[in-house]
Amino acid sequence: MNNKIVLVTGANKGIGLETARQLARDHGFTVLIGARDEARGQDAADELKSAGLDAQFLHISPTDTASIADAVREVEARFGILDVLVNNAGMLLPGDFAPPAQVSIEVLRETFDLNVFGMHAVTQAFWPLLNRSSAARLVNMSSSLGSLTLQASGSQPMQPLAMDASKAAMNMMTIHYAQQWNETPHKANAAHPGNVLTEGNSHGEISVQEGARTGITLATLGEDGPNGGFFHAGEVVPW
Ligand SMILES: NC(=O)c1ccc[n+]([C@@H]2O[C@H](COP(=O)([O-])OP(=O)(O)OC[C@H]3O[C@@H](n4cnc5c(N)ncnc54)[C@H](OP(=O)(O)O)[C@@H]3O)[C@@H](O)[C@H]2O)c1
Repeated sequence: MNNKIVLVTGANKGIGLETARQLARDHGFTVLIGARDEARGQDAADELKSAGLDAQFLHISPTDTASIADAVREVEARFGILDVLVNNAGMLLPGDFAPPAQVSIEVLRETFDLNVFGMHAVTQAFWPLLNRSSAARLVNMSSSLGSLTLQASGSQPMQPLAMDASKAAMNMMTIHYAQQWNETPHKANAAHPGNVLTEGNSHGEISVQEGARTGITLATLGEDGPNGGFFHAGEVVPW
């Protein structure tokens, strides 16, 4: 045990669950399995607990303000602090594969509601508890699809407008959170996990074990680690 508390949102499956598993198993964290669905979240926490890991379910839905407030109260009551927040919950809707100019406003709104506004709402709500940590780490699960540089070069395989724009916005917000933490021991960074095979990506080429690595590295950065960067597998991803 390292006596540190990490909350991973969208941790009932995929990259989020694997990130929570590795942080508990390999780094000794107490992990809070953030999930919007109680049964799915509890099942995931039970899976980790049955492997001897220190995992607890935390009900939190990033698009539901009341659930975020309840989650903050719960974490404050249980621990009084949060050391690491991994904003992992994210979505890519089928309607996002329309030609860019034809993507509906509804698809844009729903995607931004979770990937951008929900991410900010969770970050904002947990900011005071993170600031109680001796060295808080904020990890935003972004995507190389949100890289303006890579998209402008035409090197990216997909162009789902809402997903790409939402991750670009997430990247900008990560820079600003990091700047707010300048001259503090805290760090905020964005991760590209890779093209990971999950329920959310049936075309993934790498395992969740591998896909979780970048987020884990950023969640466990030492004091000499970067603040305000965008990374994949130890390399800088261009903004
Ligand atoms: N897989 C990839 O190749 C890849 C690449 C780049 C970036 N990413 C990013 O990595 C993160 C995790 O992706 P993944 O592939 O592991 O996805 P996943 O298996 O589909 O899991 C997504 C998680 O987000 C939650 N979620 C989805 N919609 C939600 C909503 N409206 N409100 C609250 N929670 C919601 C899901 O909860 P439910 O189970 O309740 O739906 C689940 O816990 C995402 O942010 C994604 O954009 C993934």
